[in-house]
Amino acid sequence: MKALAEQISDLDGVNIYGRVVGVRGLMVEIAGPIHAMSVGARIVVETGGSRTIPCEVIGFTGNNAMVMPFAGLEGVRRGCRAVIANSAAQVRPCEAWLGRVVNALGEPIDGKGPLPQGPSPMAFRNSPPPAHSRKRVGVPLDLGVRALNTFLTCCRGQRMGIFAGSGVGKSVLLSMLARNVDAAVSVIGLIGERGREVQEFLQDDLGEEGLARSVVVIATSDEPALMRRQAAYLTLSIAEYFRDEDKDVLCLMDSVTRFAMAQREIGLSAGEPPTAKGYTPTVFTELPKLLERAGPGLGEGTISGIFTVLVDGDDHNEPVADAVRGILDGHIVMQRSIAERGRYPAINVLKSVSRTMPRSCDPAYLPVIKRARQVMATYADMEELIRLGAYRPGSSAEVDEAVRLHEPLEAFLSQRKDEATSLSSGYAQLDQILKSVETER
Ligand SMILES: Nc1ncnc2c1ncn2[C@@H]1O[C@H](COP(=O)(O)OP(=O)(O)O)[C@@H](O)[C@H]1O
Ligand SMILES: [Mg+2]
Repeated sequence: MKALAEQISDLDGVNIYGRVVGVRGLMVEIAGPIHAMSVGARIVVETGGSRTIPCEVIGFTGNNAMVMPFAGLEGVRRGCRAVIANSAAQVRPCEAWLGRVVNALGEPIDGKGPLPQGPSPMAFRNSPPPAHSRKRVGVPLDLGVRALNTFLTCCRGQRMGIFAGSGVGKSVLLSMLARNVDAAVSVIGLIGERGREVQEFLQDDLGEEGLARSVVVIATSDEPALMRRQAAYLTLSIAEYFRDEDKDVLCLMDSVTRFAMAQREIGLSAGEPPTAKGYTPTVFTELPKLLERAGPGLGEGTISGIFTVLVDGDDHNEPVADAVRGILDGHIVMQRSIAERGRYPAINVLKSVSRTMPRSCDPAYLPVIKRARQVMATYADMEELIRLGAYRPGSSAEVDEAVRLHEPLEAFLSQRKDEATSLSSGYAQLDQILKSVETER
C-alpha cells in the first residue's frame, strides 16, 4: 500500500502552476496556488521560448510567493507560467561520480558525458545525524601534510577551518589534502571561486590522480546566489552519500565565506535586516546547519570536514570567521608573512589548534610535540631581536637552542606540493630534529 502511495505521489500527471506578477531585483513574485508553495519548494518559470528557469521559494509577501532563480532572469515577463515541482529537489550520487565535476544542480560540467544516477535520492538540505546517537570522532586521520599531522593531528570525523587571506596558499593546501589524505573519497566544493582559478585548481593542483578519487562541485562567483549556496549543500549531500556507504570521506570546501555571502544576498533580497557587516541573521543560522552535517555518522562511515574561511585584511575577528570558529573542532591559521618568506604551506602552528589533539596523537610523541611548540614560541618571542642582531648568542641557553632549531623546524614545516608524507614519519622526523640538538650540546 505504502509503495503504491509513493508511486502515486511520484506521478507527473498534474501540473500545478502560478503566474509571474512581478520582478524586483533578484526576486520574482508569483501569484497562484499559494497553498502548494512552501519555503524551499522548487518552481520552474517558463519564459515562453524554450528556456525554463528553475527557482526556489524564499518567502511570501501578501498573497504572493517570492522566489529566487538558479539562473539569469532574461526573458521573464509578467504572466509567465510558474510550474510548481511536485517533489523536493534531490540528487542521486553514486560511485561513478568519482573523477567527475558537477555544478550546483548535480549536472556534469566536465564534458565527459552523462552522469550515471545512483539508487538512493539525497536531499540537498539534509539535517545532521541526531547528536545523541552520533558516533564519537574516530581514530587519527593521516592528512598527508606534515605540519598538520604532527602539530594539529585530526581524527576521522573531525571538522577544521582554514583561516587565511587570499593568495596565502589555501587552494594548494586543499589539493595536497585531497591527493594525500588517507580517506576513500574526497568531495571538494569550490564555492564562489573565480572561473580562471577553477581550471588551475583542477589541472595544476589536483591533477588527474587527485581527481580520480574525488568529486568536485563548482559554483563560480558569477553564478546566482542560489547556485553558490546550493553548491555548498550539494558538496555535503555527496559526502553524506559516501558516508552512508560506510566510507571515510574528506569534505573540502573553499570557501565557507562565499557560502555566507550567498546566503546574505538571498536574505537581503528577501527583506531580512542586515546586522554585523551586512550579514543577515539567517547567515548565522545556516552556517551551523551546513557545517554540522560533516562529522561522524551513525554507522562506520565518517565525514572529516575542512572548510576555508577568508580573513581579508587578516581580520580574524570578522563575523563569519568568529561564527565558524565557534562551530568547528579546531582551526588552522595561514599567515601571509610566512608565505612571503617562502615557507609553504604557510601554517602558523602556534596560532592553530586541533581540539581533539591530546587524544588524537600518539601519546609517546606528546612530549616531543610540546617541546617543539615551546621552542617555536621562544623563537617567535625573540624573532625581532634576533633579526635585528640585538640578541647576543650565549645570553640564554633556551634562546640559543631555539635559534639552532629554527632552520630545521622551518624545513620540517615546509612541504612541496607534490610531496607525500605519513603520520608516523612526521612524528619520527620531529623527534630526530629535537634530538640532533641535544647531541650537539
Ligand atoms: N606548497 C606550496 N609550495 C610552493 N608554492 C606554493 C605552495 N602553496 C602555495 N604556493 C604558492 O602560493 C600561490 C597562491 O596559492 P593559492 O593556493 O592559489 O592561494 P589561495 O587559494 O589562498 O588564494 C601559488 O600560486 C603558489 O605560487
Ligand atoms: Mg584559492
